[in-house]
Amino acid sequence: MLDEIARLDPVKIRTLFDTGGEYRRARSGGDFAVDFHAGLRRARETGPVHEGTVEQVLGLPHPAPVAGRAKPAAVFSAFGYDTVNAVFRDPETYSSEAMQSTFDTFGRNILGMGGAEHSRHRAVVQPSFNRNMMQWWADRWITGITGTLLDRIESRGSADLNVEFCALLPLLTITGSFGIGMDDTLRLRELIEQMIGATVERDDRIAAAAAAGEILGPVIADRRTAPRDDLISKLLRDTIRDEDGTRRGLTDAEILAFARLILTAGSGTTWRQLAITLWALLNAPDQLDAVRRDRSLVRNAIEESLRWEVTDPTFFRTATRDAELGGVAIPAGRGSRSASPPPTTTRNAGTTPNGSTCTGRCARTCRSPAARTSASACTSRAPR
Ligand code: HEM
Repeated sequence: MLDEIARLDPVKIRTLFDTGGEYRRARSGGDFAVDFHAGLRRARETGPVHEGTVEQVLGLPHPAPVAGRAKPAAVFSAFGYDTVNAVFRDPETYSSEAMQSTFDTFGRNILGMGGAEHSRHRAVVQPSFNRNMMQWWADRWITGITGTLLDRIESRGSADLNVEFCALLPLLTITGSFGIGMDDTLRLRELIEQMIGATVERDDRIAAAAAAGEILGPVIADRRTAPRDDLISKLLRDTIRDEDGTRRGLTDAEILAFARLILTAGSGTTWRQLAITLWALLNAPDQLDAVRRDRSLVRNAIEESLRWEVTDPTFFRTATRDAELGGVAIPAGRGSRSASPPPTTTRNAGTTPNGSTCTGRCARTCRSPAARTSASACTSRAPR
């Protein structure tokens, strides 16, 4: 494993994962250095719902929309735990359809599905991410990768933990669980950046999704004939219950859409949240010592980091009917079931070190053992 990891191109790793670097800034169109908590607090204090995108409400720069991206006619942003929770808990009124147009190049996937369809598809992947599968993830990938990455930096005395550790642990875990060879690992992450980059044109996003399919396709074909103890083989073994109650295996297109989503969710969010958790602990030595002394505190530390500073503070929903949210009238979005841009979208934000969260809550429902188990594995050898 050490030799294999040593083959990864360090310049490419830094390019892809350095949050202050030009590559990331160009793709996200935002700035990781901006502290938006004061803005969030102001927004919450002046009302739970504001018209406009989160960036507009907070007065932050926002990338110009690129061709093919959904451009809703009216956008409202919800702030504060109760209001955001009310949106997430009412999928009938606030549908996830908006997520489908955001991630449409993945192929039809659960992020943009609602109701029974969402439940049927979610039931396929859920078992692989349940708490009782954490040991499976840890034994096969997380513990070994954590040890190897820390071995590489321990003797040096200092390291860029974000790039050399936090970025690689989730990426190698998730690509390892897909049976993707080390040679394709960074290429896949690069393609994911292309698929989701806020400033990337639609044609380029489609091309990147196709290129990712070319890497994943042969793995899917191989596992169909020779299953292994990995995630693709599990997805191929599981069955989905169709609307009429019959059970069937997933098609290659469905596996591919799941694979693109899980690779994206598993290698980006977890990287940033791991770095946030480590940053918080390293800057509070008493807390780090407490976690070292009593491993049962690790879980709380991870949950608290999700509440304190989330990696992805905005998510989208489309109003399916006229509604009232936090005293503000939200007009129904017409044609929200089509692939056309949803006219009325609600964005949700509300994270603050001192107050309520939105995606923190949502991330807890995300069932991401890799996120929690990775963070847990690394705190056992967190650098001093
Ligand atoms: C700390 C790390 C993570 C955070 C903060 C996070 C956050 C989220 C959030 C907020 C959602 C809900 C989006 C919405 O409803 O609009 C979500 C969905 C999802 N995430 Fe994560 N996630 C993390 C790690 C992971 C990992 C490691 C995986 C898989 C390996 C994963 C797989 C998924 C999947 C499959 C969904 C769609 C679930 C559904 O629609 O039912 N996530 N994640």
